[in-house]
Amino acid sequence: MSNRLRARRVVETLKEYHPPLGGRDGLRLDFNENVDGCSTRVLHTLHSITAELLNKYPEREPGERAVARHLGIAADQVLLTNGVDEAIHLLAETYLEPGDETLIAVPTFSMYEIYALATGAMVRSVQSSEALEFPAAAMLAAITPQTRLICVANPNNPTGAIATREQLLAILNAAPQAAVLIDEAYIHFGGETLLDQLGHIDNLFICRTFSKAFGLAGFRLGALLGPTQHMKMLRRVASPYNVNGVALTCLSAALDDRDYIAAYVEQVLEGRSLLERFYRERNIPYWPSQANFVLAYFGDYRKVFVDEMRKRGILVRDRNNDPGCAGCVRITLGNREQTVRLLRELPEALAAIGFTPQPRPTLVAKEAQ
Ligand SMILES: Cc1ncc(COP(=O)(O)O)c(C=O)c1O
Repeated sequence: MSNRLRARRVVETLKEYHPPLGGRDGLRLDFNENVDGCSTRVLHTLHSITAELLNKYPEREPGERAVARHLGIAADQVLLTNGVDEAIHLLAETYLEPGDETLIAVPTFSMYEIYALATGAMVRSVQSSEALEFPAAAMLAAITPQTRLICVANPNNPTGAIATREQLLAILNAAPQAAVLIDEAYIHFGGETLLDQLGHIDNLFICRTFSKAFGLAGFRLGALLGPTQHMKMLRRVASPYNVNGVALTCLSAALDDRDYIAAYVEQVLEGRSLLERFYRERNIPYWPSQANFVLAYFGDYRKVFVDEMRKRGILVRDRNNDPGCAGCVRITLGNREQTVRLLRELPEALAAIGFTPQPRPTLVAKEAQ
C-alpha cells in the first residue's frame, strides 16, 4: 500500500463547488447579494477601526447579545458564525456520524449537501414537483430513523418558494432525532419565521445571514439560533475566533439601521413584482418568488440569454444544472434604479437573441436518492 498522503475517501469523491465569482464586472444580479450597498452607519463605524481592534483577538459574545436583543431571544441561543455557510458546517460536524442521513428538498442551496457529504453522511434529495413548490409530503415520507440532519431554506434558493409553518412543524415533529435547520437567509423578503418556536422545540435550529438584506456578504457574518442545550455542543465545535473583529465591531450599527433594511426591502419587492409582470406579459414561464430573486425558464435560449445580458453589463445566473431547473435562469433584484436598468435591457436582450418563449417540458420526478 502506498504511504502517499491522501484526502479522506469522501472528500476525494466530493464534487467541486465553484460559484462563478471571477470577472464579475457590471451589475451583479447573479448571487442574490444586496447590490444596493449597505447601511451608511456601518460605513461610518468602519472609519473608527483602530490598530488595537485589529491586533487583538475578536470577542464574539457582545455581538451575540446584540443579535439576541434584536431578535427577542436569549444570548445563549445565539452563535455568531462566519456566514451561514459556517453554521451549516457546524451543524453537520456536531450531529452527523458517517452513514447517517441528511434530508434536503432539491433544488436548493448547494452547501447543505457538501457539508453533509464531507462528514461521511449520506444525503437523501427529495425532488420538488413541477411547480418547484416545497415537497412537504415527500419530505415527511423520506424521514427514517437514520435521518440526523434536515435542511430547509425558507424561502428557498433558487426557486423563491416557501414552506408553510404547518409543513415545517410537521417535519420537526416527525424527526425528533434530527437537527432541523430552517435557513431564513431570505426571510426579509417573504415567508413566515419560526423564531417564536425557538427553544420550545428541542430539534429546531434557525439561521440568519447578514449577506442578503443587510448588504454585508463581504463581512462573512451569520447567526445560528437554537435551543440552549444544543448551542453548548455547537460552541465546542466552533473556533473561538470564527467571526472577525471588523464585522463584530460593525454589527450593532447594521442591526440598528432598521430604516435602511426597510427601504431596501421595499425596493426589492417592487422590483420583484415588476419582473414577474414582465415574465407574465411575455409568456415566459417563471416561479412566483418570496425572495430577492426570480427563477424563469428560457429553455434553449438560456445560455445565449445569459451571455447577451453579460455583454450588456448585467450578470444573471444560469441555474441549468440544478435538479429540475434545466433551461432556467435566476435574476436577483436590486434597488429601484437597478430594476429600471434591468427592465430596459431585458426586452432588448431578448430581441437581440431572437427569443421566443418556450413551454417548459414536463419534469420527470426522481425518487428520493
Ligand atoms: C439559502 C441560503 N443560505 C445561505 C446562504 C449563504 O449565506 P452566507 O453568505 O451567510 O454564508 C445562501 C447564499 O446564497 C443561501 O442562498
